[in-house]
Amino acid sequence: MRAKEKATAALMDEWRVKGKLVSASASEMAEVVLPAQTNVLGKLLGGHVMHMVDIVAAMAASRHAISYMVTASVDYIDFRNPVNLGEIVMLKAQVNRVFTTSLEVGVEVFSENLLTGERKQTTTAFVTFVAIDEFTRKPRPVPPLILRTAEEKRRWREAAKRREIRLAHRLREKG
Ligand SMILES: CC(C)(COP(=O)(O)OP(=O)(O)OC[C@H]1O[C@@H](n2cnc3c(N)ncnc32)[C@H](O)[C@@H]1OP(=O)(O)O)[C@@H](O)C(=O)NCCC(=O)NCCS
Repeated sequence: MRAKEKATAALMDEWRVKGKLVSASASEMAEVVLPAQTNVLGKLLGGHVMHMVDIVAAMAASRHAISYMVTASVDYIDFRNPVNLGEIVMLKAQVNRVFTTSLEVGVEVFSENLLTGERKQTTTAFVTFVAIDEFTRKPRPVPPLILRTAEEKRRWREAAKRREIRLAHRLREKG
């Protein structure tokens, strides 16, 4: 292994043990809303928003876990304001909390009007991912999350309540 590859591998191992800052995996995505992604009223399709939510959340999850991730669940998702044709749709994702092999990512979606600069929050979503070992294809542990800010600590606390609801729902579904 070359020196550069060895240094990268050592850094990855250190992250897996010591954990990563929330900011290290925070991810963003943006695109202009084009006609192919809108409904007959010129509003961005909800399904397209959900697709982007899954992608940006997966980026944050994989960056944190340094692993392949699969989507285990998507919590309640609402659309408070429409995103119009020609506006920019922006998504921000960050890891809220890690559990054992799973983690929760929070995603906020905003619209920006190019002509007025007005920004609106349109959607909030919470997505749970499970880290999958590339060889065994079984769930594997995720690295710790290092919290720095009061906001990150608040998100961490709130994620525990959502996990309880999720797992209770999963149990009920299993019967
Ligand atoms: C998600 C999946 C890996 C869980 O597998 P499983 O055999 O049920 O695994 P386990 O019971 O050991 O649970 C593994 C983790 O998943 C979590 N989990 C499983 N189902 C969940 C759900 N519906 N919501 C939230 N977390 C869930 C468990 O809490 C556990 O997390 P923890 O280790 O942090 O406590 C499996 O159900 C799967 O592969 N689903 C399909 C995923 C997929 O195809 N997604 C879309 C494309 S990426």
